[in-house]
Amino acid sequence: MPQSYPENFLWGTATSAHQVEGNNINADLWAEEHAEGSPYRDYSGDAINHYQLYREDILLLAGLGLNSYRFSIEWARIEPEPGIYSSAEIGHYRDVLQACKENGITPVVTMHHFTSPRWLMRFGGWKNPQTADRFAQYCETVFSELGQDIPYVVTMNEANLPVLLKELFVNLDFMPPVGIDGAAWTAPGWREAAALRCGTTIDKYFTFHMASDEQSLPIVMDAHKKARTAIKALQPAAKVGLSLALPDVQSVAGGEAYAAGKWYDYFGQYKDAIAGDDFLGVQNYAREVYGPQGLIQTADTAEEITGMGTEFYPEALAGSIRRVASELTLPIMVTEHGIATEDDSQRIRFISRGLQGLEGCIADGIPVLGYMYWSAFDNFEWTFGYGPHFGVIAVNRDTQERHVKESAHLLGAIARRNTVRALS
Ligand code: BGC
Repeated sequence: MPQSYPENFLWGTATSAHQVEGNNINADLWAEEHAEGSPYRDYSGDAINHYQLYREDILLLAGLGLNSYRFSIEWARIEPEPGIYSSAEIGHYRDVLQACKENGITPVVTMHHFTSPRWLMRFGGWKNPQTADRFAQYCETVFSELGQDIPYVVTMNEANLPVLLKELFVNLDFMPPVGIDGAAWTAPGWREAAALRCGTTIDKYFTFHMASDEQSLPIVMDAHKKARTAIKALQPAAKVGLSLALPDVQSVAGGEAYAAGKWYDYFGQYKDAIAGDDFLGVQNYAREVYGPQGLIQTADTAEEITGMGTEFYPEALAGSIRRVASELTLPIMVTEHGIATEDDSQRIRFISRGLQGLEGCIADGIPVLGYMYWSAFDNFEWTFGYGPHFGVIAVNRDTQERHVKESAHLLGAIARRNTVRALS
């Protein structure tokens, strides 16, 4: 059988708790969804009820031929009030890990995927340096109970996303970053309303998405480092890393300085924090091209665009990985790579071309541990609600029935054969 990926390569899909579990009512972003004037287009509600259907879901993923699954443990469930840990919720995730084991699935566990407990906002959220210690304490509690069953851990999902949001805000109709409120597309004061729902006031309210300034960025990095230390003390064998959102940053003549600055903001400034990690999670969806005037809107001239209105450019994955590998000796795991589209054949081309590029990276000697497509299921796409469909499995949210798409079969076949050749 042809084989072009390393043996034991992790083939999987990814989800995050808030986006799939449903009723994550103790999370700060649940409060945001329900705040008056909220920019969220839907409530997450029951989501796809993965909280109850995880056993069926994991069985489904394993049946496709996948050998790994990336999901997140929800801090707001584990620690519903400061210092109060829920044995029942720890038990829930113990059984999720057990279901993985029973199905030959290697879990890749994220400890923080955008949401934090509501109560954290009462303490100043991600602008309070003690948040790093609180986060490490939560990780320690989880690892003291479940650590032996968690071989790979991503401490913070897209530690750099707030930086990207801040820099792209002018171009994207997306969640406002720190310091920008009352933008034209959203009612003024919605953050004040969210703060109230978290039992605090706007001066204390500071979610992870806002952590993009000089005060809060070091706190996010500190949280990662302290969590890594706590996890390693309990489970030295666990492979620990964080993930970064890394567009393939390119330039045309005259845009080199812009591109270099962006790459530093997105990647360079995190290098110290990840030194000492076991791997880096790379999450890629697109490229950014810079010219003499700054960002070039590639979507405007693209032959093909995605469901999010961005340029269809699967080659960005390899571009981003090659760039990372030229500056870092750590193994890489593709912890996200995905496309929102209503046309599954477009997704199939996206995955195939992305994986051809990844195969080239591996052939050139870049250590890559695995590939997690985002996402396993169509799910709650944050402010965009249930509109965009990233999943390889569709979900009828009235009945919670799952419908496997062709792209899921393709990914499973690639995983079984451990090659993308002859399948694309
Ligand atoms: C996030 C996911 C999100 C995906 C698609 C990543 O930024 O980690 O939570 O759904 O991109 O937008």
